Amino acid sequence: ESGAQKTPLALAFESIAGSKTDAVVVPKGYTAQVLVPWGTPINDSVGPWSADRVVTPEYQANSVGMHHDAMDFFALSEESASREFVLALNNEYIDQGALWAPQGGPSNQDSGSRPADEVRTEINAHGVTLVKLSKNSDNVWSSDAGSRYNMRITSATPIEIGGPVRGSDYVVTAYSPDGTRTRGTNNNCGHGLTPWGTFLSGEENWPAIFTKTSSRTIDDNRIGIPDGRSRYAWETAAGAVDEVDAEFTRFNATPSATSASGDYRNEPRTFGYMVEVDPYGNTASVSTEAAAIKRTYLGRFRHEGAWLGKLTAGQPLAFYSGHDARNEYIYKFVSKANWDPADANRPGEDYDRLAIGAKYLDAGTLYAARFNADGTGEWLPLTADATTQDGQRLSTALGLADDDLAGVIINTCDAADLMGATPMDRPEWATVDSNSGDVYVALTNNSDRTAEGTAATFSNGGSDIDGPGVAYDTAPTNAANPRANNQAGQIIRWREPSPAATSLHWEIFVFGASANDTDNLSGLTELNQFASPDGLWFDDRGDGQGILWIETDNGYDGVAEQTNDQVLAVVPSALSHERGQAPVVGAGNQQQLKRFAVGPNGCEVTGAFTTPDKTALFINIQHPGNWPADPGAATQDATRATDGSVRPRAATVVIQKADGGQIGV
Ligand code: FEO
Ligand code: CA
Ligand code: CA
Ligand code: CA
Repeated sequence: ESGAQKTPLALAFESIAGSKTDAVVVPKGYTAQVLVPWGTPINDSVGPWSADRVVTPEYQANSVGMHHDAMDFFALSEESASREFVLALNNEYIDQGALWAPQGGPSNQDSGSRPADEVRTEINAHGVTLVKLSKNSDNVWSSDAGSRYNMRITSATPIEIGGPVRGSDYVVTAYSPDGTRTRGTNNNCGHGLTPWGTFLSGEENWPAIFTKTSSRTIDDNRIGIPDGRSRYAWETAAGAVDEVDAEFTRFNATPSATSASGDYRNEPRTFGYMVEVDPYGNTASVSTEAAAIKRTYLGRFRHEGAWLGKLTAGQPLAFYSGHDARNEYIYKFVSKANWDPADANRPGEDYDRLAIGAKYLDAGTLYAARFNADGTGEWLPLTADATTQDGQRLSTALGLADDDLAGVIINTCDAADLMGATPMDRPEWATVDSNSGDVYVALTNNSDRTAEGTAATFSNGGSDIDGPGVAYDTAPTNAANPRANNQAGQIIRWREPSPAATSLHWEIFVFGASANDTDNLSGLTELNQFASPDGLWFDDRGDGQGILWIETDNGYDGVAEQTNDQVLAVVPSALSHERGQAPVVGAGNQQQLKRFAVGPNGCEVTGAFTTPDKTALFINIQHPGNWPADPGAATQDATRATDGSVRPRAATVVIQKADGGQIGV
């Protein structure tokens, strides 16, 4: 706190009305510009996008991927950081209808063999996009197709495996007999930003791209590897190359079904991690060809992201992760190495950042969170020698050898079950108030929450199956997840004494709801009602203050009938609140949560950062239904009709003030 000198930060825009149009709506005095929609070329090797563009494997490998999700920016110099940077962008999944619009849809999606080039195109539409953005003197932004930083990482790119799982029997495949490499990253959803200047990409709903019809292991069941045809049936594609490197059959992890040239039963165990990418392109510390490295110490699950805790010189780093599935857990990784400011990113310089990543991310301790009813909480260590709720050695309870840390990581969710972690309402993003160190996590919703809970059925498949330590199928309500059939979600926050602490104090920050709901616990109105919080970003404005940006991915009719998905803003330090069990945004505070932007029909809003000078807010519009017709057009035309003629494209949107001032204030 800077005492008398501090000017209270206040939101200086009027909360906007809900909207249900094919446009991005922003407050009066602001503009919105569409950037890098799916299919935008990132080099000159392919022709331009057009609405009738037939997307080939080559075209997709050299253009922006599909379904933009989390993103961050990487400056090329301190001086130019608000004008130009490398954008690192997750491409989460695909809309096959939009991808195959000129051909009338995917071939053989539900039966028979998928054509090899269709599968290659779909594989190339996933992953991560790196593309340089810059603005001109009129504050108009564009992507630079000539930049040497532009790059695609797809679900086929060679990637190294780091951390405790590296070199273990769990990840031996015919492709990597020593268990050090895999191909591809998939369903890249949330993210993380390291202080040494790398991008962490979360592998979330990857289990769906595999199939395993026999020889299933407990982790296959726990994490939900399908036992029938996979989501896109990539495993069915055939080709001459198949016998050599199992290009497609690697997605079938059934031992008897794998290629004659080798076995891919462990292929799913090479997914579920945070993948570290150097956006500046230097991968000197990983093997030839590998473009990134999977940091397995942060855990294996449906990994939404990994967000850095408060950074303090001489102390360990903490990274917070959510497993986005019903009744799954929140995790924290604490580095063994203490933070050395000499390791901080040097923008634009060419040196081996992944070697610094190894220092902080390949040694430490992984924990799972327990939230007690009295507002306290504990971090439960997921170490081989930890003691479970039932008094057993964790490795023994998991059926592993005594010191099998790789096995604990492979079975992260089972380990957390056995330690007594608190099942949450689908943890999505985290963000950290860089001043107070308060950690915020979006708990998006949970249809499998009941007052009493119901007994486990130990079924296979799906994303909410039961593991060896789980006694329930639908989880009973608890203090941190207090609503049965929770359709609107909530944001929890907590504070810890230090990054390595094993205790915390938590409270509910805000409950989502429709203004008309009887359980509208935060007193929301027509101007700030929301449901299913997902993206979060704390935007530090100095003096110990900042804006918490909240983005939604809502499937709850109570709110969806009133507005499309949206961006809200609140200044946590401006709220009057005694720490305790009542929601922080409640009586007396609800007007300070303001709706800043609304997305087009059918979309979710995700991805968030502002430039260092705070004049531009970047967001992503994912899975829009009918937008944008013209990426260069203004996006505030709320009257444009839905006529079904648009091939929808996910895109980044940059929101600026017409007068060039700071966003939000
Ligand atoms: Fe891809 Fe949990 O959001
Ligand atoms: Ca999400
Ligand atoms: Ca979501
Ligand atoms: Ca999504």
